[in-house]
Amino acid sequence: MKRKIIVGNWKMNPTTLSEAVNLFKKVKNTAQRLAHTHVIVCPPFPYITKFTSSTAKPSVGIGAQNAFFEERGAFTGEVSPVMLRDLGVSHVIIGHSERRAEGESDEIVAKKVQAVLESGIHPIVCVGEKDRDAHGLYLDILRIQIKNSLAMIPKRLANQLVIAYEPVWAIGSKEPMEPAVIEETVIFIRKILADIFGQENALRTVILYGGSINFRNAPDIIIRGKVDGLLVGGESVNIPGFTELLKAVDVV
Ligand code: 13P
Repeated sequence: MKRKIIVGNWKMNPTTLSEAVNLFKKVKNTAQRLAHTHVIVCPPFPYITKFTSSTAKPSVGIGAQNAFFEERGAFTGEVSPVMLRDLGVSHVIIGHSERRAEGESDEIVAKKVQAVLESGIHPIVCVGEKDRDAHGLYLDILRIQIKNSLAMIPKRLANQLVIAYEPVWAIGSKEPMEPAVIEETVIFIRKILADIFGQENALRTVILYGGSINFRNAPDIIIRGKVDGLLVGGESVNIPGFTELLKAVDVV
């Protein structure tokens, strides 16, 4: 059975440290009992040091939700990948649509992806169209977004990349995308990756799906959508829902 990767993007939740500690404890308890799933949670920055561990293979990996492209210096409010690496962070979400909506361009995303890779962390690069038109223009939009966002990847580090396909229209909605359409889009994304850094790297790249995942639809999306894992928003801060999701995904 292939090992799945489930990433919980907590976004700006929960609002107190004690709730965050409780949530993390529950995720860890469940994750310790899984055989075929690697769980990563991405809490808000202030909580990160509470959860990172010095063990080589922690039962729950810790990710961040953003990082800046410089190592250090006069950049008020920014956090560098090197600082995150030092704390034991293994993954960083880059270019989430909620950040792109605040003005983060493909060019900034590309610089961040490069800096994160150079620091020894896996970037989880979010890509996805805002909507789907009947003429397939969204495919060009997706291709350009991916090419531009990955424009500065050093080839030797390409195998460290994680892609999260998150169609913006499917985030926080009632329904995720149809699994058959996810499968099709993942094939399309792999073709673009092959153009950028070769077939071998493209086939090895971990591709996640994100957008309205819950414990009911997660197994089907993994099986029929043929993705390597999921990037989960709302359901990742819902203790009973996320517990069920992890258990269900582990056995598919
Ligand atoms: P939802 O799972 O809440 O739709 O959010 C998806 C997402 O944006 C994960 O990064």
